[in-house]
Amino acid sequence: MSAGEPVLVTRPLPDQVLRFLEERCDVARNREDRPMDRDRLLAEAAGKAGILSMLTDRIDGELLDAAGPQLKVVSNYAVGYDNVDVDACTRRGVLVTNTPDVLTDATADMAWALILGASRRMVEGDRLVRTRKPWSWSPTFMLGREVTGMTLGIVGLGRIGQAVAARAVPFRMRVLYHSRTRHSDAESALGLEYRPFDDLLAEADVISIHVPMSEETRHLFGEPQFRAMKPTAVLVNTARGPIVDEEALAEALSAGELFAAGLDVYEREPEIHPDLLGLENVVLAPHLGSATVETRTAMGMLAAENLVAAVTGGRPRAMVNPEAGGYSVEK
Ligand code: DGY
Repeated sequence: MSAGEPVLVTRPLPDQVLRFLEERCDVARNREDRPMDRDRLLAEAAGKAGILSMLTDRIDGELLDAAGPQLKVVSNYAVGYDNVDVDACTRRGVLVTNTPDVLTDATADMAWALILGASRRMVEGDRLVRTRKPWSWSPTFMLGREVTGMTLGIVGLGRIGQAVAARAVPFRMRVLYHSRTRHSDAESALGLEYRPFDDLLAEADVISIHVPMSEETRHLFGEPQFRAMKPTAVLVNTARGPIVDEEALAEALSAGELFAAGLDVYEREPEIHPDLLGLENVVLAPHLGSATVETRTAMGMLAAENLVAAVTGGRPRAMVNPEAGGYSVEK
């Protein structure tokens, strides 16, 4: 057993990340590659100074109480932290950390994979070929929608939204965005145009979602929004599932109110609405936005460094609630 503060890791980690942690902390870990069941998570959290959690772990008051008052940090292995009750952590003086920046490019690449895959019917085409049924080129065979030269709408212009917008340049797209605040630097650097949400819905040929999950953004996309979009439009979600009303999306896709969708995240992950599973015009990925060897290692190293810093009295690089550790809040 290593010396150092006791910490819990809720899922197997890349080797480099595990080595880094084991050299610095006393690590208890889940060795099975599936989420820890709730009772085991509650039991194993007891007495730990830090928890390295996944987005599949619910970190709430019950878990924090089970862990005990010595808990200093919840280090989430994700940039999103909607699985963590941050207020409950702050009230108990528990820091919450996350992994921003290091997954921006991988996630933006994934959004583009879905934009192209859904617009050009890539996965549907692959499925068709594998049936071994005869097919042949024809002027009207399996037509998708053009991407180059069309209008892209970005909803949420944080780091990932901006990286998706930057990738639109060689596609000669007009890029609109909607976000709570105007980003004049990005507007001039990337040639973006701000639009109120409803105008963006009506004008965009492709919409890519990049807002964080919150009660404000739950079902931001539902029946009225799908009706406001072009029937030729493509919707892509690599943010969080509950931002899109899946049932309404399935209805819009099957009624031809939208051309196609590309989803990486789901309302009740890992469950997927059965109506979506039956549709050809939706590309469904199993939450792979950050899933490259390089990015998952970088996320793991940042999560591990955040954890070690917090349990050894240092300042973690990426804090969600710095005030919980007595740090000033940078706005
Ligand atoms: C995150 O970090 O929030 C992503 O969803 C992980 O892929």
